[in-house]
Amino acid sequence: PYYKEMFGLTELEQRLRKHFGLKHVWIVPGDSDTSPHTKRELGKAGATALRKMMNKDDVIAVTGGSTLASVANQLTTQTPLKGNWFVPARGGLGESLDYQANTIVSTMAKRTGAHYRLLHVPDHLGEGAYLTLMQEENIREVVDVIRSARIVIHGIGDAMVMARRRRVNEEVIEALKAEGALAESFGYYFDREGAVVHKMPTAGLRLEDILETEVVIAIAGGGSKGEAIAAVMRFGHDDILVTDEAAALVITAIL
Ligand code: BG6
Repeated sequence: PYYKEMFGLTELEQRLRKHFGLKHVWIVPGDSDTSPHTKRELGKAGATALRKMMNKDDVIAVTGGSTLASVANQLTTQTPLKGNWFVPARGGLGESLDYQANTIVSTMAKRTGAHYRLLHVPDHLGEGAYLTLMQEENIREVVDVIRSARIVIHGIGDAMVMARRRRVNEEVIEALKAEGALAESFGYYFDREGAVVHKMPTAGLRLEDILETEVVIAIAGGGSKGEAIAAVMRFGHDDILVTDEAAALVITAIL
């Protein structure tokens, strides 16, 4: 049934797939910016993509955000996925509880009968605090599991929208603007060409982990995110993109 809805968007999917060298692209009809229905369908498509990629004993690292929350709410399985572990990709990023990776991870695990581990540390850490925390055995242990993830599923946001949502201070906002930050994903900021212009020391997934992750799934939609999605695709380490028609049209217009 899902594929029937896709009918007509296949050409757009092929175009994006080829242009960015992705393995799969799925586009749902509509615009998540204005339609809660589309946002739910995007979540459903994200859940389907994730289930397709999952094997028996995977570790799956998940970011926060309203889109991933929608994926979690749509995730179902016929048989419990007992051997799988869901973990947050990073620590708390100053998001509201519903959108925190920890919350999303526990929902995903409960809905699928999988296991989960949580990471109870703030994400914006000074170098000193980071090193101290990493010496805590139970934190170190979770972080090692996170960094061993075979699958990463992440959202993408507009840089300024995300910086404000995370209450980043004005100084950093100005720096981000000066650096040309356009997109944000897993706590990193990217410019139009997909170059990383801003990062912070983090407990959790680092850029170097993402470069080595076997399956990286991006899920983001809405016309307002089109340019941000294109920027992260230019970064070039995603394998799968799940998006909506409105975002896809903005992306193809700037290719
Ligand atoms: C964050 C993710 O929690 O959600 C980011 O860490 C992403 O990668 C953001 O940019 C997107 O949020 P939303 O609510 O637009 O899905």
